[in-house]
Amino acid sequence: MVKVGIAGGSGYGGLELLNILLRHPQVQITWISSQQHAGKNPGDVYPNLRGFLNLNFSSVETLPASELEVLFLALPHGHAMKIAPALPGELLVIDLSGDFRVSDPAVFQQYYGIPLTCPEEQKGFVYGLTEINRARIRSARRVANPGCFATATILALYPLYQEGWIDGPVYVDSKTGSSGAGNAPAAGTHHPRRSNSLFPYKPFAHQHLPEILQLLDRPENPLVFQTYSAPLVRGIFASHYMRLHKAHLPQEICSLYQAYYGSEFFIRWVPDYPDVNFVRHSNFVDIGAASKDDHLIVWSTLDNLQKGAAGQAVQNMNVMCGFPEQTALDTAPTHP
Ligand SMILES: NC(=O)c1ccc[n+]([C@@H]2O[C@H](COP(=O)([O-])OP(=O)(O)OC[C@H]3O[C@@H](n4cnc5c(N)ncnc54)[C@H](OP(=O)(O)O)[C@@H]3O)[C@@H](O)[C@H]2O)c1
Repeated sequence: MVKVGIAGGSGYGGLELLNILLRHPQVQITWISSQQHAGKNPGDVYPNLRGFLNLNFSSVETLPASELEVLFLALPHGHAMKIAPALPGELLVIDLSGDFRVSDPAVFQQYYGIPLTCPEEQKGFVYGLTEINRARIRSARRVANPGCFATATILALYPLYQEGWIDGPVYVDSKTGSSGAGNAPAAGTHHPRRSNSLFPYKPFAHQHLPEILQLLDRPENPLVFQTYSAPLVRGIFASHYMRLHKAHLPQEICSLYQAYYGSEFFIRWVPDYPDVNFVRHSNFVDIGAASKDDHLIVWSTLDNLQKGAAGQAVQNMNVMCGFPEQTALDTAPTHP
């Protein structure tokens, strides 16, 4: 059993971590933080957890770093960079925020609007897109868990970028559910504003763009990246439009994705169209495509709180600890 702590255990990402880790046979959750709910049992605040945990929230200042083996940081941007430099080197740390994803401090400042105060610390973090960086994650003690939009787009485009199939730019249109904004109420997530609406935000400026560009680095294939708020609670649905150097049969496109992801449990190639409904509450990413002549559309969908956050964080912990990668994550998506 590994002793695990969660900083930010009362947020949407932290609660999803709790839910997954409660069914993990090799994990003992020994510390969880919340500032507003310190001293309360999670089940008293979130009735879905009633009776599941014999452990109360503590304030983040009580972090017992030397008593933990794994620490998840699920705090708003800007907090992990204050905490991480003081943590023991042997502790396994998985940060769900954007603090350590971007290697260039100037780019980080441009997209996050705050300075990266510990650039040396950032160099010790491995980018935690499990399927692509598994070998480095296995020996890492610090992992920067990817953003939800970034996971959807990198996995959808990675085989095409690696093989150099794309001619010119890729246009990305990616929609998210409201839980992506966290559990603090805000005007943009208020039910009357959000429930029947669809609107763009952060054109050319979304903070997940730099981490995408770190992996999809081909100047001849620039990305035009646009995010939308969709009337969903959970889910990312990303569409990628592009032109190829030559026309490919659907079977050739399928074979390309099978070559990259055929042995990946959490990535499913769908023969028709992906749908957010069929990945919800799971760590799966569904990818599908349609082509006509040399035009290609690739779609990817995932649950932003699972493969887009807590699910991938636990997948990374499993890799770092040498546990079977699917442990606690091999549940089928729920429907309806
Ligand atoms: N939501 C997603 O889909 C998603 C996906 C990928 C990555 N992420 C990233 O994961 C991180 C957490 O996201 P979230 O959606 O879970 O956010 P959230 O729902 O707003 O939760 C934030 C957590 O941080 C705690 N917190 C807030 N301010 C704090 C402070 N000053 N000191 C200590 N603790 C504080 C909150 O505790 P109390 O309010 O109880 O005090 C809560 O537990 C963010 O960096 C986010 O960008 C989120």
